[in-house]
Amino acid sequence: MNQKADAIVAAALEAVAHSDSIQELEQCRITYLGKRSALHQLQKSMGSLSAEERPGAGALLNECRKTIQGRMDSRRSELAAVELENRLRSETIDVTLPGRAPARGRRHPISLVSRQIFDIFEKMGFTVLEGPEVEEEFYNFDALNIPPDHPAREDQDSFYIAEDRLLRTQTSGMQVRTFKRFKPPVAAISPGKCFRRDTVDATHSHTFHQLEGFLVDRGVSMADLKGVLTGFVHQMFGAETRVRFRPDFFPFTEPSAEIAISCFNCGQTGCRVCSTTGWIEIGGAGMIHPEVFNSVGYDYETCSGFAFGMGIERIVMKKYGVSDIRQFYENDMRFLSQF
Ligand code: PHE
Repeated sequence: MNQKADAIVAAALEAVAHSDSIQELEQCRITYLGKRSALHQLQKSMGSLSAEERPGAGALLNECRKTIQGRMDSRRSELAAVELENRLRSETIDVTLPGRAPARGRRHPISLVSRQIFDIFEKMGFTVLEGPEVEEEFYNFDALNIPPDHPAREDQDSFYIAEDRLLRTQTSGMQVRTFKRFKPPVAAISPGKCFRRDTVDATHSHTFHQLEGFLVDRGVSMADLKGVLTGFVHQMFGAETRVRFRPDFFPFTEPSAEIAISCFNCGQTGCRVCSTTGWIEIGGAGMIHPEVFNSVGYDYETCSGFAFGMGIERIVMKKYGVSDIRQFYENDMRFLSQF
């Protein structure tokens, strides 16, 4: 009995020591302490012992069971500690890994150039005012000296959304809105989207951006208009850039002028940017028509002013060599990320 018991304990302790996981240890428990274990068989066979032998044998076998159980318990805590350790190691977050930075947005080229333009005019004392994209016919046409039967309405094919409301075809309506709110002196620029029923192609879009500018005070003359626009052009395109004014017609300015700048790309020797003319048209301008002042209650005997309007897309296209206006609205990151 003693020898058998010793052999069982030795084998059991050996197996426990070699168990490398809680599962293996559990297997050990079944093998060495379970119902079908050699130890259990021995305990069951005690019935055949004599009454004197039995207590000693019982105590011995209990001792064996306790020894094995004790070793198993301590091995179990060892293994549990190792497993916990491993889990912690595999589940830890390495805070020293470089993070995944969110993709950073950038300004659209139209916004980019608009901001450069705002900067220049703000330094000259102009305020930036934004107006509505859905405009009343009165501001877009009537108050600008374009009565219902005027052919200029035809030039600006419009999107009407009601009898007397439309998507504005120009930012010039903001002259009228501003003059109705403020008494002279006023100096403001007004940027924004405009809409015309144009057929879309490389140089035309139904939606585009204009920048309106105007200044009204006592004694404002065409010389002030030239001075302000020349100052703007020099800052925007470089001090060597020349500015050309040629007679033009707008119902709300008199006299009116077309503004062009010398080609900054070829220095006026002729290139694709200026279509070999040496000049790039950037907008229209003129002295505000007395009829406009009449419609807002300004006294044109005591004040005068100028206004100008520029197409922002045109400036961006010329400045960056963009050949197709549609690229501004297609949201193609390959195009947009170049600015
Ligand atoms: N609004 C005119 C256009 O769209 C441009 C302009 C603005 C002309 C201001 C003169 C004065 O063509």
